[in-house]
Amino acid sequence: MNLGIKGKNALVTGGSHGIGLSTASALAEEGCNVALCSRGKERLEAARGMVLSKGTQCLAIQADVLVPEDIDRVVEKVIGEWGYIDILINNAGGGGRWGSDDILETPEKVWTEVYDKNVFAAVRFTVKILPYMKQRNWGRVITISSIHGKQAGGRPWFNLAKCAETVLMKNLSMKPEFIRHGITFNSIAPGRIMIPDTGWCQEQEANPIEFQKMIDRELPLGRLGTPEEVASVVVFACSQNASLLNGASIVVDGGECRVF
Ligand SMILES: NC(=O)c1ccc[n+]([C@@H]2O[C@H](COP(=O)([O-])OP(=O)(O)OC[C@H]3O[C@@H](n4cnc5c(N)ncnc54)[C@H](OP(=O)(O)O)[C@@H]3O)[C@@H](O)[C@H]2O)c1
Repeated sequence: MNLGIKGKNALVTGGSHGIGLSTASALAEEGCNVALCSRGKERLEAARGMVLSKGTQCLAIQADVLVPEDIDRVVEKVIGEWGYIDILINNAGGGGRWGSDDILETPEKVWTEVYDKNVFAAVRFTVKILPYMKQRNWGRVITISSIHGKQAGGRPWFNLAKCAETVLMKNLSMKPEFIRHGITFNSIAPGRIMIPDTGWCQEQEANPIEFQKMIDRELPLGRLGTPEEVASVVVFACSQNASLLNGASIVVDGGECRVF
């Protein structure tokens, strides 16, 4: 299928690892130029090399999405170099393991930082980039939420932030001032995704028997998802073919979520 996005300019926040990296790779394979931002220089440079190897342009910008000035700087850099951004992937986020299971002992800072990292980063990037999409009468804004943006569960600060991300995309999807300029807003809601060197991987290594029991009990597919499986849905949602997809929250979880 020709997805019709060759030559588009994309920005993937948190694009140096996991779902963001797989999304950057899949967008580059479709011929998009890809800008990435994240904090760690080494992984960012490796990600840049990966995008360049696909034959498209890449900007790799060191930035922390918890710092509003960094977000401004990322957008200014990409606009300064390329003039416009067609596709925004609000991927940087997380915080599902921040704090502790003891909610009463978890400081308020955890609640605010998880909200800032997921929701306010997405708000700031989206608001800054929308005028450029409007000028070009085309745009795709995708936010990587979670099945905990659809159903209750997990630590409450994460559940709260992911629900807010889902609502943010839905709310914007109902605004004619954007939609009638060819801009769509959707969220992608992954279930448990196995990513090297991150939480699920560490849990599996620490306690393989309990981890397998969790899989047998909670994951109909009998395994966690992969970042590539999420990225392929993200890229379709970015495509020309997805022009009627707007305001959706697409679950990509192998059947894990209880909501229908
Ligand atoms: N993995 C799952 O099971 C799962 C399930 C549902 C939803 N999600 C969501 O999917 C998204 C990506 O998660 P992931 O599991 O792919 O994460 P990951 O593998 O840990 O990658 C996170 C990426 O974001 C960057 N990042 C982290 N904090 C940042 C910050 N403050 N500023 C800028 N960049 C930052 C990281 O690079 P640096 O650390 O170098 O900055 C890295 O590139 C998140 O929104 C997460 O909530 C994940």
